Amino acid sequence: MPTKIVVTDHLEPDFIWETDQLRARGFDFTWQQHQLKFASEDELVPAIRDADVVVVNMARMAAGVIGRLERCRLIIRHGIGYDNVDLKAATAKGIRVANVPDYCPQEVAEQAVMLILAAARHLPEQLRSMDASVAKGQWDFSAVRAVYMMEGKKLGIVGCGRIGSRVLRMTAGFGMTVLVCDPYLPDKEKKALGIETVPLERVLAESDIVSVHTPLTDETRGMFNARTLAMMKPSAVLVNTARGPLVVDADLAQALRDARLAGAAIDVYDFEPPRRDNPLFGAPNLLMTPHLSWYSEESGWSIREKILEDIVRFLEGKPPRFTVNPDVERQG
Ligand SMILES: NC(=O)c1ccc[n+]([C@@H]2O[C@H](COP(=O)([O-])OP(=O)(O)OC[C@H]3O[C@@H](n4cnc5c(N)ncnc54)[C@H](O)[C@@H]3O)[C@@H](O)[C@H]2O)c1
Repeated sequence: MPTKIVVTDHLEPDFIWETDQLRARGFDFTWQQHQLKFASEDELVPAIRDADVVVVNMARMAAGVIGRLERCRLIIRHGIGYDNVDLKAATAKGIRVANVPDYCPQEVAEQAVMLILAAARHLPEQLRSMDASVAKGQWDFSAVRAVYMMEGKKLGIVGCGRIGSRVLRMTAGFGMTVLVCDPYLPDKEKKALGIETVPLERVLAESDIVSVHTPLTDETRGMFNARTLAMMKPSAVLVNTARGPLVVDADLAQALRDARLAGAAIDVYDFEPPRRDNPLFGAPNLLMTPHLSWYSEESGWSIREKILEDIVRFLEGKPPRFTVNPDVERQG
């Protein structure tokens, strides 16, 4: 029986390149693609029930879905974070889960630095001021709040893995003191980066800018909530390019409205795209981007090549490049 590869939901316009590549290598396979990002479990299961390989972008691979898969041996998460895949359920069923951790760390770090600068230098206000000035025929800076230089201030980095460490290196020329919170960073990494880590409480209390780069886990979900946001300086800004649910949107919106936080720049949301009634809309001093930190022309192709490589490896009987549930091997 040919190997059945099914894509649950995708950003790519088509998969002609992938199917041509697999055909050219002589593999016996079928390829199906869907747009089931928002599908219920009952809609998702019939599409992937008898797939050998499932490639998933945003669709939820909950335990109820995974439990009903009949042949699946590999789930490839199209991206870095794999919080939409129930790892426990996959491991229990002997399904390997792969991600693509190395396709866009540079892009996300570049976006984080862009947002750090834009939030610190109040870019949206400067754009509004430009429009107002042109309309009036004279400079009008009335919409621009006080801007403080970044040099000499403190930058907090929460999560110093692939992306956080790039932000650390990129901002090295800003003349800021950097405070890093990452309780799991190996000593070897700390040494290589020339840093010591500090507790989250210290990052929150002292930083002028906090940039978040942790994965979404049970521990990090809701990490930025009313209690922790209140620990930040009222002059501080929060930048989140990691995962929406790390921040409680309603609490962040309230902190901005109450001027208990000077600003925020957010690329990721609890529900995506955010619904009209998301409390963040209309909150002051907030810059929102549409979960595009990952994007560049290079990364768009890089992820296709890397996923293709994992599919080829599967068809050749080899494990994927990165397995996120290595315990699966013990399941036999
Ligand atoms: N916006 C986007 O387009 C986009 C694109 C790619 C990745 N991401 C997200 O960026 C984030 C970082 O990705 P990465 O590749 O750097 O991951 P990574 O695994 O390389 O690094 C994450 C770091 O966070 C640390 N960490 C874990 N729990 C922590 C905690 N409780 N407190 C502090 N640190 C903690 C880990 O030790 C690790 O060093 C992920 O959430 C990922 O999903 C977003």
